[in-house]
Amino acid sequence: MKRYAIIFIFTLLVSQSAVGQQISIIDSSQHHVSFRGLSVVSNTVLWVSGNKGTVGKSVDGGNHFNWMNPKGFETRDFRSVNAFDGKTAIIMAVDSPGVILKTIDSGVTWKVVYQNNLHGIFLDAMAFKNKLNGVCVGDPIDDHFWLIETNDGGDSWHQVSAKQTVEAKKGEACFASSGTNIQFIDHPDFKYGFVSGGMDARLFLINASATKPAVIRSLPLMKGLATTGANSLAVNGKDFVVVGGDFKNYTRNDSTIIYNSGGGANWNLSVQKPLGYKSCVIWLNNKGLIATGLSGSDITTNTIYDWKHFSDIPFNVVQKAKIGSAIFLAGGNGKIARIVF
Ligand SMILES: *[C@@H]1O[C@H](CO)[C@@H](O)[C@H](O)[C@H]1NC(C)=O
Ligand SMILES: *[C@@H]1O[C@H](CO)[C@@H](O)[C@H](O)[C@H]1NC(C)=O
Ligand SMILES: *[C@@H]1O[C@H](CO)[C@@H](O)[C@H](O)[C@H]1NC(C)=O
Ligand SMILES: *[C@@H]1O[C@H](CO)[C@@H](O)[C@H](O)[C@H]1NC(C)=O
Repeated sequence: MKRYAIIFIFTLLVSQSAVGQQISIIDSSQHHVSFRGLSVVSNTVLWVSGNKGTVGKSVDGGNHFNWMNPKGFETRDFRSVNAFDGKTAIIMAVDSPGVILKTIDSGVTWKVVYQNNLHGIFLDAMAFKNKLNGVCVGDPIDDHFWLIETNDGGDSWHQVSAKQTVEAKKGEACFASSGTNIQFIDHPDFKYGFVSGGMDARLFLINASATKPAVIRSLPLMKGLATTGANSLAVNGKDFVVVGGDFKNYTRNDSTIIYNSGGGANWNLSVQKPLGYKSCVIWLNNKGLIATGLSGSDITTNTIYDWKHFSDIPFNVVQKAKIGSAIFLAGGNGKIARIVF
């Protein structure tokens, strides 16, 4: 009986659209949880993470999830997850103390690999380049963004060199909305970049050489309020896309998506305005993008042109399989979905 009821609900939740994409809700069993972390290893293996200490893993493309609550962290909000495979994953909790946990046994046990009790510590997001090199960004401490790196797959973390420490403006911080405001960059000069929000919205490019300062670019994105700014950075070679907006007023259209094709200096605003605030953007291929947020999901096959709104269902994060083509979304009320083309 339960099975039939579930199939019936799934059928109702497939939202039809004229442009060829459908969002198919595949799980909402954790309806009391808001998901913001999502890491899709392949078409079959994905991990999600959210508040109330909740982590989930599927090894069959999202048909079934194995739910877990790392012991001792049941009240934490895991806003960023990076999975290497079905057994190994790293999760990051926002707020204080700052903690990063790692499992190598499918989530049976979790080890604290980083803990920071500094007053005001607030980690926002992690990114990994490969199975060894990763970075995590946090809100400013003493007016400087908190940046830590790992070179051993997350087993140990160290702060970036003082030369590369980036000063924040008053009222400028990072949004921990989708775990995607920091990304590695395939560029001879820069190793990774991250974006900020609040009173200003900027892109910080951290030089590959530890003795060189970061390059800072102003972003022509909605800014000036504590709730406005850049939420997500997607990188494809030298092509960068940044999305954001005002999460308190998610219908605001002005400057929510910007595009740059050469190191972050000259930005083009999206021509067709996607409908409102977006918390995450990903590249589908060299010109295709999907962005999602409280305002729903939008897609383009042509960078800043031809954006189409294809779903009103709010989500926080969208991710494509690192190896494979499957695209999943996760958001509030325990919603996890797959995009069906
Ligand atoms: C990054 O540092 C290298 C030296 O390691 C330097 O040659 C290069 O100009 C720097 N790039 C930028 C954009 O500052
Ligand atoms: C956002 O843009 C759409 C389409 O351009 C428009 O219909 C809508 O009124 C805009 N919303 C706001 C709040 O400006
Ligand atoms: C939300 O944004 C719209 C469009 O810019 C504006 O007219 C409205 O006053 C805003 N609402 C709030 C509550 O800020
Ligand atoms: C971005 O803007 C610049 C300057 O206006 C223009 O030359 C360039 O073609 C634009 N890029 C795209 C992809 O439209």
